Amino acid sequence: MKILAIESSCDETAAAVVEDGRNVLSNIIASQVEEHKLYGGVVPEIASRRHAEAIVGVVNEALKTANCTVDDVDAIAVTYAPGLIGALLVGVNFAKGLSLATGKPLIPTHHLRSHIASNYISHKELKPPFLCLVVSGGHSHIVEVKDYTDMRVIGRTRDDAAGEAFDKAARAMGIPYPGGVELDKIAENGDDTAFPMPRPRVDGSPYDFSFSGLKTAVINLIHNRQQKGEDIPVADVCASYRKAVVGLLVDNFLQAADDLGYTTLVTAGGVSANSLLRRELEKRCKGKYQLFMPEKPLCGDNGAMVGAQGYYEYLAGHVAKSDLNAVATLPISEDKY
Ligand code: KG4
Ligand code: ZN
Repeated sequence: MKILAIESSCDETAAAVVEDGRNVLSNIIASQVEEHKLYGGVVPEIASRRHAEAIVGVVNEALKTANCTVDDVDAIAVTYAPGLIGALLVGVNFAKGLSLATGKPLIPTHHLRSHIASNYISHKELKPPFLCLVVSGGHSHIVEVKDYTDMRVIGRTRDDAAGEAFDKAARAMGIPYPGGVELDKIAENGDDTAFPMPRPRVDGSPYDFSFSGLKTAVINLIHNRQQKGEDIPVADVCASYRKAVVGLLVDNFLQAADDLGYTTLVTAGGVSANSLLRRELEKRCKGKYQLFMPEKPLCGDNGAMVGAQGYYEYLAGHVAKSDLNAVATLPISEDKY
């Protein structure tokens, strides 16, 4: 079964053709990041406009690269939640129109479930159940993936998402948006013991995360040094901060795995491209857990992951009608269409 998949939840207009949830025939991404960089973050209104301009070309390119026409695809999957509402609406309306015009089924797909599904492309043998650390610009969750469309969140952030925590700290050091990527590169050359950071825990919720105290600690450190006229050893600050954020993520994730008896562990979302997170997990999982992470190019937003998850949504009978709407906030365990 060939699925044409569309993603427009944030600042990437993406489309892909994916066969049977695992085999990527094309994966086209038009990124708006250079424009949003000017403003230090995603400007929702600009994102919607750019999606509207890009979507026809991106979908055509995805079909052409996959060597097919819209007649050759069996269904259309689209990200309908969660995300920026205006941005989501562009993809949803485009997919609805295409489904109506062609008579192909319309599959509503949850963005975070799709991030998890990027692993089905990278690891053909991976099947639920497993425990997944979902870390992106908007979410930090520990999710029990019981089945392809049956999930339960057992840990979550109480404030910033991990990606947001990286981006905000990077911004305080003058690193342009999305700073998490650059911070990771700079940290590779820093001393991670230079600045001890707090290790915030959430009382009574051992799997929940809190990053705001860490973010404030690093911002205060930078401001204090600036006020005293001292230079900021950026690489050392990046390395110390990255170690602290990754430490929280890995500790809670492995604790949850032990407590719940999961031995298959998976990561997903933009932050799972972080070099230290990957190294730490590889080191600590060795011989004890089976670890799966998406290939780096599939960690960020893309259409292929939507095609992968869309396949399993379709198998579960999740097909929408032409009244499908976009939803800005929706728990990973719920369907709303
Ligand atoms: O999953 P994603 O592409 O979009 C959302 O659904 O939010 O995640 C984007 C986030 C951004 O905050 C970005 O800074 C972060 O992922 N990110 C990273 C790295 N690559 C992307 N954070 C830390 N290290 C990286 N290598
Ligand atoms: Zn995402």
